[in-house]
Amino acid sequence: MNDIITIINIAYVVAAALFILGLKLLSHPDTAKKGNFVSSLGMLLAVVVTLLDQQIISYHYILLGFVLGGAFGAWKAKSVQMTDMPQMVSLFNGFGGAASLLLGWATLNGLQGSLLGAQTAGAFVYITLFFTVLVGGITFSGSVIAWGKLSGTMSSKAVVFTGLRELSILHLVAMVVVAYLFVTDPTNPVWLYCAIGLALSFGLWATISIGGADMPVVIALLNSYSGIAASAAGLATGNTILIVTGLLVGASGLILTNIMCKAMNRSLMNVLLSGFSKPVEAAGKIEGEVKILPAQDAFYVLEAAQAVLVIPGYGMAVAQAQHAVRELQSLLEDNGCTVDYAIHPVAGRMPGHMNVLLAEADVPYDQLYEMDDVNPRMENYDVVIVIGANDVVNPAAKEMKGSPIYGMPVIEAYRAKTVFVLKRSANAGFAGVDNPLFFKDNTRMVLGDAKDTINTIIREFGDE
Ligand code: TAP
Repeated sequence: MNDIITIINIAYVVAAALFILGLKLLSHPDTAKKGNFVSSLGMLLAVVVTLLDQQIISYHYILLGFVLGGAFGAWKAKSVQMTDMPQMVSLFNGFGGAASLLLGWATLNGLQGSLLGAQTAGAFVYITLFFTVLVGGITFSGSVIAWGKLSGTMSSKAVVFTGLRELSILHLVAMVVVAYLFVTDPTNPVWLYCAIGLALSFGLWATISIGGADMPVVIALLNSYSGIAASAAGLATGNTILIVTGLLVGASGLILTNIMCKAMNRSLMNVLLSGFSKPVEAAGKIEGEVKILPAQDAFYVLEAAQAVLVIPGYGMAVAQAQHAVRELQSLLEDNGCTVDYAIHPVAGRMPGHMNVLLAEADVPYDQLYEMDDVNPRMENYDVVIVIGANDVVNPAAKEMKGSPIYGMPVIEAYRAKTVFVLKRSANAGFAGVDNPLFFKDNTRMVLGDAKDTINTIIREFGDE
């Protein structure tokens, strides 16, 4: 018996080591695929060993879940469009939260089913069970709202209503009261249902009241919550590997949240409470007019350029223009021009979105620069090509006090000699904020689908 426990514990340590190695490998595009594989291997080991470790009543349901869940996951991963990845990741976070909630519920049922269990389980177990259900529920409903905002199923704007502040305070007080009742009277299922109801509704308000501009922080935080819920579930069920895995996800999610907050120059509290503060009218109005340039004419300017900066955004992902961008880069370089790329930390809809797309198109990694590297030398670029980016180049973040994105660091494209904005219209981006860049004297809008526009420019190079 002791030998089996030793083997199980060693297997858990190996699984944890594989997770950590996987995370390390995931931090670079070249090794990311390997990192994913190594982590999956760790997860397989953890699942198999847990099945041996725990007293499993019936393997039939587990097998059924394994086959159905595995088939659904494989189908989804194969068929998902690259542009739909962020909302899928958000749903996966939500499923993680729901799984923890269900695990907490099932564990409580098991304890209630065995009188001995209910009597011997101490307050610690019930506190962690309550925490599991609460955080799991908040993660689930919050992630569903994040999915809605990212997929465009619902507006990305903050939904605020009178009484939201009072409702939230009432909610928090109710959670503390229910937590007390749950821990002191754990055999009464009513408190569990109250906890589930409170968790689901809290996740809903808390996320719905946060505006589109702050969604990157919310997504990173929900990712962290899913790990914390799993870790609490591990504590409640006494499963070491669940505690470790949950902590790894929780900690990496928190690090990401911190990075996102820095990228947007916001504090976490400021983001979480943004729905409660009174909206401020944006000061200043946009002046100037939009100047449209045909792609054929854009070619002549690019042909004469010595230094070009490409700023990709979500529209590049929608247009799947990354390969065309790479081809244009080669043509420009053959023409004696240097080409750099500027990547904003929240460009696109998920962390590293642009890096993944550009790596897929074989854009050399050393030509990718962070915002802080390119901003000081913006005046040196003859042409900046903004490809489907909007919020991340919006000067309103600097010029218009009261704007929802005011204070967010942006790539200062407007300071370059000439700016080409490749998008389909002058409409606002994800944050719903109009963009003064489109009206600046040195900006030309090259309207149309980004891939079509770049292909037209490429053809012009070919005709020369
Ligand atoms: P956005 O501000 O969302 O702007 C993208 C632009 O792409 C749109 O204005 C759209 O304009 C254009 N577009 C769409 N399809 C196109 C096509 N086929 N061809 C050409 N253009 C096309 O993108 P961004 O500048 O990358 O900023 C990202 C935003 O998403 C930020 O507000 C950020 O906070 C938010 N967000 C980011 C994340 C992460 S972690 N990255 C997560 C959630 C939310 P038209 O319709 O006029 O073409």
